[in-house]
Amino acid sequence: MPAPTSKLNPLITNLKPHSRVSESYRILRTNIQYSAVDSPLKTILVSSSQPGEGKSTTVSNLAVAYAQEEKRILLVDGDLRKPTLHQIFSVSNRSGLTNVLANEHSLEDAVHSTEIPNLHLLTSGTHTPNPAEMLGSKRMNQLLDKVVQEYDLVLVDSPPIMAVTDAQILSTLCDGVVLVLNYGKVKRDVAKKALEHLAHVNAKVLGVVINNRTYTGKDSGYYYHYGS
Ligand SMILES: Nc1ncnc2c1ncn2[C@@H]1O[C@H](COP(=O)(O)OP(=O)(O)O)[C@@H](O)[C@H]1O
Ligand SMILES: [Mg+2]
Repeated sequence: MPAPTSKLNPLITNLKPHSRVSESYRILRTNIQYSAVDSPLKTILVSSSQPGEGKSTTVSNLAVAYAQEEKRILLVDGDLRKPTLHQIFSVSNRSGLTNVLANEHSLEDAVHSTEIPNLHLLTSGTHTPNPAEMLGSKRMNQLLDKVVQEYDLVLVDSPPIMAVTDAQILSTLCDGVVLVLNYGKVKRDVAKKALEHLAHVNAKVLGVVINNRTYTGKDSGYYYHYGS
Protein backbone atom coordinates (compact mmCIF):
# COMPACT_ATOMS: atom_id res chain seq x y z
CA MET A 1 0.00 0.00 0.00
CA PRO A 2 1.66 3.26 -0.98
CA ALA A 3 2.23 6.01 1.55
CA PRO A 4 0.60 9.20 0.32
CA THR A 5 2.62 12.39 0.58
CA SER A 6 0.32 13.90 3.22
CA LYS A 7 -1.02 12.10 6.30
CA LEU A 8 -3.36 9.33 5.20
CA ASN A 9 -7.01 10.14 5.57
CA PRO A 10 -8.38 7.05 7.33
CA LEU A 11 -11.24 6.62 4.85
CA ILE A 12 -9.58 7.74 1.65
CA THR A 13 -11.36 5.01 -0.35
CA ASN A 14 -14.65 6.75 0.42
CA LEU A 15 -13.49 10.36 0.23
CA LYS A 16 -11.22 10.08 -2.80
CA PRO A 17 -12.35 6.95 -4.65
CA HIS A 18 -10.34 7.86 -7.77
CA SER A 19 -7.02 8.38 -6.00
CA ARG A 20 -4.09 6.03 -6.49
CA VAL A 21 -4.27 4.92 -2.85
CA SER A 22 -7.97 4.03 -3.19
CA GLU A 23 -7.18 2.11 -6.35
CA SER A 24 -4.61 0.03 -4.44
CA TYR A 25 -7.28 -0.93 -1.87
CA ARG A 26 -9.47 -2.10 -4.76
CA ILE A 27 -6.54 -4.11 -6.16
CA LEU A 28 -6.13 -5.67 -2.72
CA ARG A 29 -9.84 -6.59 -2.76
CA THR A 30 -9.45 -8.25 -6.15
CA ASN A 31 -6.30 -10.11 -5.12
CA ILE A 32 -8.01 -11.45 -2.02
CA GLN A 33 -10.86 -12.72 -4.17
CA TYR A 34 -8.38 -14.49 -6.47
CA SER A 35 -6.52 -15.99 -3.53
CA ALA A 36 -9.50 -18.15 -2.64
CA VAL A 37 -11.46 -18.89 -5.80
CA ASP A 38 -12.47 -22.42 -4.81
CA SER A 39 -13.79 -21.62 -1.34
CA PRO A 40 -15.58 -18.29 -1.11
CA LEU A 41 -14.39 -16.27 1.86
CA LYS A 42 -17.00 -15.15 4.35
CA THR A 43 -14.77 -13.96 7.20
CA ILE A 44 -11.41 -12.23 6.80
CA LEU A 45 -9.11 -11.21 9.65
CA VAL A 46 -6.64 -8.36 9.17
CA SER A 47 -3.62 -8.42 11.46
CA SER A 48 0.04 -7.47 11.66
CA SER A 49 3.09 -8.46 13.63
CA GLN A 50 3.37 -5.23 15.64
CA PRO A 51 1.27 -2.19 16.59
CA GLY A 52 0.92 0.76 14.21
CA GLU A 53 1.53 -1.14 10.97
CA GLY A 54 -1.79 -0.13 9.42
CA LYS A 55 -4.27 -2.88 10.33
CA SER A 56 -7.19 -0.59 11.14
CA THR A 57 -6.53 1.68 8.15
CA THR A 58 -6.29 -1.32 5.81
CA VAL A 59 -9.35 -3.17 7.13
CA SER A 60 -11.46 0.02 7.02
CA ASN A 61 -10.54 0.93 3.45
CA LEU A 62 -10.87 -2.67 2.33
CA ALA A 63 -14.36 -2.73 3.86
CA VAL A 64 -15.25 0.44 1.92
CA ALA A 65 -13.85 -1.11 -1.28
CA TYR A 66 -16.04 -4.20 -0.80
CA ALA A 67 -19.10 -2.10 0.07
CA GLN A 68 -18.59 -0.12 -3.15
CA GLU A 69 -19.06 -3.43 -4.98
CA GLU A 70 -22.58 -3.48 -3.51
CA LYS A 71 -21.75 -6.28 -1.12
CA ARG A 72 -23.33 -6.22 2.32
CA ILE A 73 -20.36 -5.88 4.65
CA LEU A 74 -19.96 -6.14 8.43
CA LEU A 75 -16.76 -4.69 9.82
CA VAL A 76 -15.97 -5.91 13.35
CA ASP A 77 -13.48 -4.28 15.71
CA GLY A 78 -11.80 -7.34 17.20
CA ASP A 79 -9.01 -5.22 18.67
CA LEU A 80 -10.45 -5.09 22.17
CA ARG A 81 -7.20 -3.67 23.53
CA LYS A 82 -6.68 -0.62 21.29
CA PRO A 83 -9.89 -0.20 19.34
CA THR A 84 -9.99 2.58 16.75
CA LEU A 85 -12.71 1.71 14.22
CA HIS A 86 -15.32 3.78 16.11
CA GLN A 87 -13.01 6.78 15.71
CA ILE A 88 -12.32 6.12 12.04
CA PHE A 89 -16.08 5.92 11.32
CA SER A 90 -17.04 8.56 13.93
CA VAL A 91 -19.57 6.45 15.80
CA SER A 92 -20.12 5.77 19.50
CA ASN A 93 -18.42 2.80 21.17
CA ARG A 94 -20.85 2.58 24.08
CA SER A 95 -22.22 -0.65 22.72
CA GLY A 96 -20.27 -3.15 20.66
CA LEU A 97 -18.77 -6.62 20.42
CA THR A 98 -18.01 -7.09 24.14
CA ASN A 99 -21.54 -6.02 25.08
CA VAL A 100 -23.07 -8.48 22.63
CA LEU A 101 -20.78 -11.25 23.91
CA ALA A 102 -21.73 -10.39 27.51
CA ASN A 103 -25.41 -10.55 26.53
CA GLU A 104 -25.97 -6.92 27.49
CA HIS A 105 -27.12 -5.84 24.03
CA SER A 106 -28.53 -7.60 21.02
CA LEU A 107 -26.44 -7.75 17.87
CA GLU A 108 -29.11 -5.77 16.02
CA ASP A 109 -28.93 -2.96 18.58
CA ALA A 110 -25.14 -2.86 18.64
CA VAL A 111 -24.45 -2.80 14.89
CA HIS A 112 -24.11 0.71 13.41
CA SER A 113 -24.99 1.74 9.90
CA THR A 114 -22.25 3.95 8.51
CA GLU A 115 -22.31 6.83 6.04
CA ILE A 116 -21.18 4.30 3.44
CA PRO A 117 -24.05 2.32 1.90
CA ASN A 118 -23.81 -1.47 2.54
CA LEU A 119 -21.18 -1.03 5.25
CA HIS A 120 -22.13 -1.86 8.83
CA LEU A 121 -19.89 -1.62 11.86
CA LEU A 122 -19.73 -3.53 15.14
CA THR A 123 -17.35 -1.54 17.34
CA SER A 124 -15.29 -3.17 20.11
CA GLY A 125 -17.70 -2.21 22.90
CA THR A 126 -17.02 -1.53 26.56
CA HIS A 127 -13.47 -2.25 27.71
CA THR A 128 -13.05 -5.77 29.06
CA PRO A 129 -10.29 -7.07 31.37
CA ASN A 130 -10.18 -10.43 29.57
CA PRO A 131 -10.20 -9.90 25.78
CA ALA A 132 -8.62 -13.26 24.84
CA GLU A 133 -11.24 -15.21 26.81
CA MET A 134 -14.03 -13.22 25.21
CA LEU A 135 -12.70 -13.72 21.68
CA GLY A 136 -12.15 -17.43 22.31
CA SER A 137 -15.59 -17.94 23.81
CA LYS A 138 -18.32 -20.17 22.41
CA ARG A 139 -20.50 -17.09 22.07
CA MET A 140 -17.94 -15.44 19.78
CA ASN A 141 -18.02 -18.51 17.58
CA GLN A 142 -21.82 -18.46 17.54
CA LEU A 143 -21.84 -14.74 16.80
CA LEU A 144 -19.65 -15.19 13.73
CA ASP A 145 -21.80 -18.14 12.60
CA LYS A 146 -24.81 -15.84 12.82
CA VAL A 147 -23.36 -12.82 11.05
CA VAL A 148 -22.07 -14.79 8.08
CA GLN A 149 -25.71 -15.70 7.37
CA GLU A 150 -26.68 -12.03 7.34
CA TYR A 151 -23.78 -10.41 5.48
CA ASP A 152 -21.91 -11.19 2.28
CA LEU A 153 -18.59 -10.66 3.99
CA VAL A 154 -17.33 -10.06 7.54
CA LEU A 155 -14.02 -8.24 8.02
CA VAL A 156 -12.34 -8.31 11.43
CA ASP A 157 -9.68 -5.98 12.87
CA SER A 158 -7.32 -7.37 15.54
CA PRO A 159 -4.42 -6.61 17.87
CA PRO A 160 -0.88 -7.36 16.65
CA ILE A 161 0.15 -11.01 16.55
CA MET A 162 3.42 -10.68 18.47
CA ALA A 163 1.89 -8.91 21.48
CA VAL A 164 -1.00 -11.12 22.57
CA THR A 165 -2.82 -14.29 21.52
CA ASP A 166 -6.02 -12.51 20.42
CA ALA A 167 -5.17 -12.44 16.71
CA GLN A 168 -4.22 -16.12 16.72
CA ILE A 169 -7.54 -16.94 18.40
CA LEU A 170 -9.46 -14.84 15.87
CA SER A 171 -7.55 -16.39 12.97
CA THR A 172 -8.91 -19.81 13.91
CA LEU A 173 -12.46 -18.41 13.64
CA CYS A 174 -11.96 -16.69 10.27
CA ASP A 175 -11.65 -18.19 6.77
CA GLY A 176 -8.44 -16.31 6.03
CA VAL A 177 -5.94 -13.76 7.29
CA VAL A 178 -4.41 -10.74 5.58
CA LEU A 179 -1.15 -9.72 7.20
CA VAL A 180 -0.19 -6.04 7.04
CA LEU A 181 3.53 -5.32 7.25
CA ASN A 182 4.95 -1.84 7.59
CA TYR A 183 7.67 -1.56 5.00
CA GLY A 184 10.98 -0.56 6.54
CA LYS A 185 9.73 -0.72 10.10
CA VAL A 186 9.31 -4.40 10.73
CA LYS A 187 12.32 -6.66 10.68
CA ARG A 188 12.24 -9.74 8.49
CA ASP A 189 12.59 -12.18 11.44
CA VAL A 190 9.68 -10.52 13.28
CA ALA A 191 7.50 -10.83 10.18
CA LYS A 192 8.57 -14.46 9.84
CA LYS A 193 7.71 -15.12 13.50
CA ALA A 194 4.24 -13.60 13.00
CA LEU A 195 3.65 -15.95 10.04
CA GLU A 196 4.89 -18.87 12.17
CA HIS A 197 2.40 -17.94 14.90
CA LEU A 198 -0.38 -18.05 12.31
CA ALA A 199 0.88 -21.33 10.84
CA HIS A 200 0.96 -22.80 14.36
CA VAL A 201 -2.83 -22.46 14.61
CA ASN A 202 -3.35 -23.52 10.96
CA ALA A 203 -4.56 -20.09 9.88
CA LYS A 204 -4.98 -19.59 6.15
CA VAL A 205 -2.78 -16.65 5.18
CA LEU A 206 -4.36 -15.10 2.09
CA GLY A 207 -1.55 -12.65 1.52
CA VAL A 208 0.68 -9.95 2.89
CA VAL A 209 0.12 -6.23 2.37
CA ILE A 210 3.33 -4.25 2.35
CA ASN A 211 2.13 -0.96 3.74
CA ASN A 212 3.52 2.56 3.79
CA ARG A 213 5.93 2.17 0.94
CA THR A 214 6.98 5.55 -0.44
CA TYR A 215 5.96 5.99 -4.06
CA THR A 216 8.94 6.60 -6.32
CA GLY A 217 7.13 6.66 -9.65
CA LYS A 218 9.28 3.76 -10.85
CA ASP A 219 6.86 1.06 -9.86
CA SER A 220 3.30 0.65 -8.72
CA GLY A 221 4.31 1.31 -5.13
CA TYR A 222 2.02 -1.51 -4.20
CA TYR A 223 2.88 -5.06 -3.32
CA TYR A 224 0.74 -8.02 -2.58
CA HIS A 225 2.15 -11.48 -2.09
CA TYR A 226 0.14 -14.65 -2.22
CA GLY A 227 0.36 -17.23 0.55
CA SER A 228 3.03 -17.22 3.17
N1 LIG B 1 -0.49 3.54 3.72
C1 LIG B 1 -0.37 4.46 4.69
N2 LIG B 1 0.18 5.66 4.43
C2 LIG B 1 0.31 6.61 5.37
N3 LIG B 1 -0.10 6.46 6.66
C3 LIG B 1 -0.65 5.28 7.00
C4 LIG B 1 -0.83 4.22 6.06
N4 LIG B 1 -1.41 3.17 6.70
C5 LIG B 1 -1.59 3.57 7.99
N5 LIG B 1 -1.14 4.84 8.18
C6 LIG B 1 -1.15 5.62 9.43
O1 LIG B 1 -0.38 4.93 10.41
C7 LIG B 1 -0.97 5.04 11.69
C8 LIG B 1 -1.23 3.64 12.27
O2 LIG B 1 -2.16 2.99 11.44
P1 LIG B 1 -3.29 2.04 12.03
O3 LIG B 1 -4.12 1.59 10.87
O4 LIG B 1 -4.00 2.68 13.18
O5 LIG B 1 -2.37 0.84 12.55
P2 LIG B 1 -2.72 -0.41 13.49
O6 LIG B 1 -4.19 -0.60 13.46
O7 LIG B 1 -1.96 -1.53 12.86
O8 LIG B 1 -2.20 -0.08 14.86
C9 LIG B 1 -2.25 5.84 11.52
O9 LIG B 1 -1.98 7.19 11.88
C10 LIG B 1 -2.56 5.72 10.05
O10 LIG B 1 -3.26 6.86 9.55
MG1 LIG C 1 -5.57 -0.67 14.98
